[in-house]
Amino acid sequence: MTEAIPGLTYTTARERPFDPPDELTRVREETPIHRMIYADDHEGWLVTGYALARAVLAHPSFSTRPELLHPPIQNRLIKMKEFKTPPGFFIRMDPPEHTRFRKLLTGQFTVRRMKQLEPRIEQITNDRLDAMESQGGPVDLVQAFAMPIPSLVICELLGVPYDDRERFQRDSAVMLSLRSTPEQAKAAMDDLLGYLRDLVRRKRAEPSDDLLGGLVAGGELDEEELAGVGLLLLVAGHETTANMLGLGTFALLTNPEQLAAVRDDPAVVEGAVEELLRYLTIIHIGPIRTALEDVDLDGHLIKAGEAVTIAAAVVNRDPERFGEAETLDVSRPVHGHLTFGHGVHQCLGQQLARAEMRIAYPALLRRFPGLRLAVPAEDVPMRSDMAIYGVHRLPVTW
Ligand code: HEM
Repeated sequence: MTEAIPGLTYTTARERPFDPPDELTRVREETPIHRMIYADDHEGWLVTGYALARAVLAHPSFSTRPELLHPPIQNRLIKMKEFKTPPGFFIRMDPPEHTRFRKLLTGQFTVRRMKQLEPRIEQITNDRLDAMESQGGPVDLVQAFAMPIPSLVICELLGVPYDDRERFQRDSAVMLSLRSTPEQAKAAMDDLLGYLRDLVRRKRAEPSDDLLGGLVAGGELDEEELAGVGLLLLVAGHETTANMLGLGTFALLTNPEQLAAVRDDPAVVEGAVEELLRYLTIIHIGPIRTALEDVDLDGHLIKAGEAVTIAAAVVNRDPERFGEAETLDVSRPVHGHLTFGHGVHQCLGQQLARAEMRIAYPALLRRFPGLRLAVPAEDVPMRSDMAIYGVHRLPVTW
């Protein structure tokens, strides 16, 4: 019999750097779904079990439209309803509106384009490693390696000049910080949209072979929609992978046997990337949804208008699905984790993110076989205050 936890609220505070918050884990040990109080006092739901989480994400009666969502934690998202989603920001649209954008974008994320990018990812990675080597340790791995690689890759894919990175990295950091006020987040988003609108105009005048150029040439989206799509890809495409590279390296450095396997055995690398994605689950708020109509979930009635937050980090540690889920084991076969979501919104960039990690982790570990933390592990600042979890800095030497 499940014990009700009165007044359960959401938390992003992790007691240990690689484990989800203990409180949320305790909920999963009790029950796969529980009532939860949202930051706007809405009484909704928290899902912690794997099977139910997948069921919600695959169910057509759950919406991602911002005007319907409730904020699981106290931050700028509390004003979610006042945030008008820019046209083209399709992660916050439901089908059939979502389907139109998703189809257009899937047409651009071709196998050919991804394959073409791989040698560039290798080159970009090696350039960063050369720069680290000539600079000498200690360095902050986030600034020297984890951030620039995905940032350069997404710029190349979209056709965004990398020289403008200061502007879009600053804007996207403000958008993703849980400490930003709604006004700050909105100003950062507007600035980035303005920048992208100009870029789209330039691409209309001068056709280019990159993804944004391809969408411009396709002629199906107007200028505002193109800027919104660009915004989504730019923000989703670099902070996420950058944090996987930073946090993943930290996790490997504190698990030397696992690190040695990734460094020395090419056969392990693909699975290691999946295991690190599962084990670390950098998406530490959500995914979040709202029921459009009454839905029965395993005997629980989710009423129309009620919010559901999936605690992906604890779902990915569900022992019923992943066995010894609390251990990082890069040689275990892992599939079906929810770090890229599930259902119609499942991450569009997942193959690109995987390619970046498959190339970057072993290249780093082979170039610097003596890689180690330059500060005690407990002094590494963690990103509990950001929508995407990871490390703020990772001082390393070799
Ligand atoms: C390790 C890296 C990444 C992680 C963990 C990640 C995670 C996610 C998750 C969980 C979702 C679904 C959200 C939801 O259902 O509400 C998502 C959607 C999305 N991601 Fe990623 N992502 C990563 C990398 C990327 C990259 C590199 C790109 C772009 C090149 C990208 C572009 C997108 C887009 C466009 C969507 C929206 C898809 C849709 O609504 O149809 N992501 N991502």
